[in-house]
Amino acid sequence: MLNFFKGNEKKEEEIILDSNNIPKHIAIIMDGNGRWAKDRGLARMLGHREGMKTIKRILNRASDLGVKYLTLYAFSTENWKRPKEEVGALMKLIIEFAHKECKDLKKNNVIVKTIGDLDKLPNTSLEAINMLKEETKNNTGIVLNIALNYGGRDEIIVATKEICKQLLDGKISIDNINEELVNNNLYTAGMPDPDLIIRPSGEQRLSNYLLWQSAYSEFWYSNIKWPDFSEKDLERAIYDYQNRDRRFGDIK
Ligand code: FPP
Repeated sequence: MLNFFKGNEKKEEEIILDSNNIPKHIAIIMDGNGRWAKDRGLARMLGHREGMKTIKRILNRASDLGVKYLTLYAFSTENWKRPKEEVGALMKLIIEFAHKECKDLKKNNVIVKTIGDLDKLPNTSLEAINMLKEETKNNTGIVLNIALNYGGRDEIIVATKEICKQLLDGKISIDNINEELVNNNLYTAGMPDPDLIIRPSGEQRLSNYLLWQSAYSEFWYSNIKWPDFSEKDLERAIYDYQNRDRRFGDIK
């Protein structure tokens, strides 16, 4: 139920979510950091830094609501095309995030995982992210799944190569190639497909995100830039999701 209170009665809308229909996996494209900074006459990097703070708020709220997987697009295979100062600063921000947040992530029972080709990251960033994964691996709560040097097309190519190798090695035959086998060879192996994909900042495209996995995801867009994305916005997205009719190709 979404209640709107007008005038002096109450300022904010009250969003009542169905706790039995919380999306298990939410994936977010953290867009709009650069424009957020530009709007304020700040360097783009300050937008990314502010966007990093949003992660903590949204992760905590998602966890409280019972979301099991939160996948965040932190750096795409195409983001290397950005000016090298910005790429370098983002790589450093990952290190900062790992060191600043490690203690709280551990305490809050968060498991950190990644998807993407991490081998191409600078060593220092790779070490920091591996440290975070190692430190949180025995937790049992929400999975914070960070997409780093991730591209949906790259992921499909990597999986295809792996399947071809298994085929050439005689471990599988052509008839063994099915959805399950592909799933098991993606970076997201073992994770459910995203139920809900959120993209703030006004853009309405997928940008090479979770191409295979998004086959039946619900999409939610908003004009809010990621640094301003609030816990309430997350609730709005989930509320809308709960009012969609998911049929997975079937009829009602
Ligand atoms: C897209 O906004 C955002 C990125 C490419 C980087 C997102 C990274 C963070 C929020 C922080 C680092 C992440 C971790 C996990 C520590 P944009 O720069 O394309 O925004 P614009 O479209 O307004 O220019």
